[in-house]
Amino acid sequence: MAGEDIQQWVHLNGKLVPKAQASLSIYDHGFLYGDGAFEGIRVYSRNIFRLRQHVIRLFASSKALGFSLGQDIASIEQAIADTVRANGVDNGYIRVSVSRGVGLGLDPAHLKGNATVVISTEQLRLYSAEMYEEGLTVITASTRVPPAMCIDPQVKSLGKYINNIAAKQEANRVGAGEALMLNLQGNVAEATGDNLFLVRGGKVTTPPTSEGALPGITRGAVIDICAELKIPCSEAVTTLYDVYNSDEAFLTGTAAEVIPMVRCDGREIGPGTPGPVTARIIGAFRELTPVDGYKV
Ligand SMILES: Cc1ncc(COP(=O)(O)O)c(C=O)c1O
Repeated sequence: MAGEDIQQWVHLNGKLVPKAQASLSIYDHGFLYGDGAFEGIRVYSRNIFRLRQHVIRLFASSKALGFSLGQDIASIEQAIADTVRANGVDNGYIRVSVSRGVGLGLDPAHLKGNATVVISTEQLRLYSAEMYEEGLTVITASTRVPPAMCIDPQVKSLGKYINNIAAKQEANRVGAGEALMLNLQGNVAEATGDNLFLVRGGKVTTPPTSEGALPGITRGAVIDICAELKIPCSEAVTTLYDVYNSDEAFLTGTAAEVIPMVRCDGREIGPGTPGPVTARIIGAFRELTPVDGYKV
């Protein structure tokens, strides 16, 4: 891990620059309109976990938003790996943020130049070790996910996160670790920055992306782990009744990793302690993260 006194670098529009000199235009469309996309990626023992999948999702997000990054997948991967190497990150978090480019006025036709591409690394820990052991208390937010016919949940866009931030504030107000978000039908979509998994009768389920969930890379890894461990796992439309009456529950996300969820809206999930299926999945996830990805 890089010490505080070591020079940190940011990959900004194709070049590594010292972090203190990395600045963006005040008219960047990401800043003005949330007109862009991003990825959060983790490094485990110098392995960038599922890098190719993250970069493919980034390209899919910008394609859906209708702008090109002006580079191919291999060059973005290379730029991410170069940033990790330059910052001496053994274990850490990478943030890749892209926007349509620079220009005042929302009409993309007025934009001159290329998309903005920023890659930085940080140390990030969302929860204490104790919370991974004891499990998280969550609430259901009153803030809903936007319907997929308005904002496609598969696009990891900058702008859509105003809603997730509002839901997270609801959790913060009552001292909960996370907030579940419902769609307009009242089904559970996901948490503010994580996907939801339930375990009932030995079967694992997760809400489909059509219910408003991001197709999480960690979610995908957990689905693969279940197949490997021969644990039945499928997508299922999920209600709060299902959450309250599950035997076990956990959340998945690059930042949070895989974390047990033991209480929701004042109800204990199962016995109110992390369950055995969750523990097996967390064990397998910890084995996978240093080996599945791009070595730097
Ligand atoms: C809204 C939302 N859902 C789910 C996730 C989990 O996705 P991933 O596992 O790719 O980090 C994230 C984080 O990226 C997210 O922002």
